[in-house]
Amino acid sequence: MNSNKTVLISGGAGYIGSHTAVELINAGYDVVIIDNLSNSDRNAVDGVRDIVGRDIPFEVVDTCDRAALRAVFDRYAFDSVIHFAAFKAVGESVAEPLKYYQNNLVSFMNIVELMKETGRPNVLFSSSATVYGEAEVLPVTEQTPRQPATSPYGNTKQIAEDILRDCCGAYSGLNGIALRYFNPIGAHPSALIGELPRGVPNNLVPFITQTAAGIRPMLSIFGNDYDTPDGTCLRDYIDVVDLAKAHVAAVNRMVGARMESSYEIFNIGTGRPVSVLELITTFEKVNDLKLPYQYTARRAGDVPAVWADTTRANEVLGWKAERSLDDTLRAAWAWEKHIRNIK
Ligand code: UD1
Repeated sequence: MNSNKTVLISGGAGYIGSHTAVELINAGYDVVIIDNLSNSDRNAVDGVRDIVGRDIPFEVVDTCDRAALRAVFDRYAFDSVIHFAAFKAVGESVAEPLKYYQNNLVSFMNIVELMKETGRPNVLFSSSATVYGEAEVLPVTEQTPRQPATSPYGNTKQIAEDILRDCCGAYSGLNGIALRYFNPIGAHPSALIGELPRGVPNNLVPFITQTAAGIRPMLSIFGNDYDTPDGTCLRDYIDVVDLAKAHVAAVNRMVGARMESSYEIFNIGTGRPVSVLELITTFEKVNDLKLPYQYTARRAGDVPAVWADTTRANEVLGWKAERSLDDTLRAAWAWEKHIRNIK
């Protein structure tokens, strides 16, 4: 393996990690996947192998386990790491903050510290639009001030961004990119990998697909009295394959030594706001089915609207979201049907 062309993916059996592994391989990289399988399934790695048609090194490792992580760093040659491994349930983070700070921050510090210790240059971090909170001006650019986090989950994203910024500033040779994802949805067009939430989904699209599959009797729209065109919240839904390709563009930038400063941030979204209601009706239209839904109270902590200004990613990263919402919602349903054995 050529270290310059090899990427370590922590959380590579997860939703975004598995799609990113596929796109990196399609772009000519080798990948090494590690995952502790706490909220993912090893079948996802097999799905990646099936899509790309070759074997991929995979090890069950917890990134909080420094010794085990060190062994991975010693065993493989790679210049870049993409760190996906993290807990991501907002409500759970409010109930169990220590679990979130412990897991999400210790794992990230282990990664950054080992990169420094072993002289490896490139760290790509999964951040989130959650860092913007309820922004005063929309769409948000990377210069839009971050708002105080409203959950420990969101706080771990802000703190990890700061850790990366400070370390890239202090340790010469260390480069960092934080990608601020908006709302990732959809699945690979092959339907071999996709999102696999455990228990009752928190996020909208898995709830929609599970409702369509008959697993959930009723979909709730959390609030229709927001100050938005149809009263439901506005979000920027980004196709997971497009999102995966943004990681390839960011790795290319780091590997190609094209960064303007040692730490950079990019918004990764479509730039188009879509309401909850529009998402639901589009899902119904493109998949030719009807969803049972009702309006319920607003969900605590939801912001009325957030969407990305993607100019910087378009111009500097040379990346743009390409897949249509129709295609994305068809892929989401194809994946749900695949895992539920629905014809
Ligand atoms: C959430 C997190 C965000 C995290 C992201 C990860 C919160 C407040 N934010 O974003 O920090 O980075 O997930 O994917 O939890 N909705 C319904 N009915 C449902 C589910 C959702 O109406 O059953 C609505 C929500 O009110 C929201 C929209 O759908 O307006 C999207 O919700 P969701 O998919 O949970 O994402 P976010 O809340 O935007």
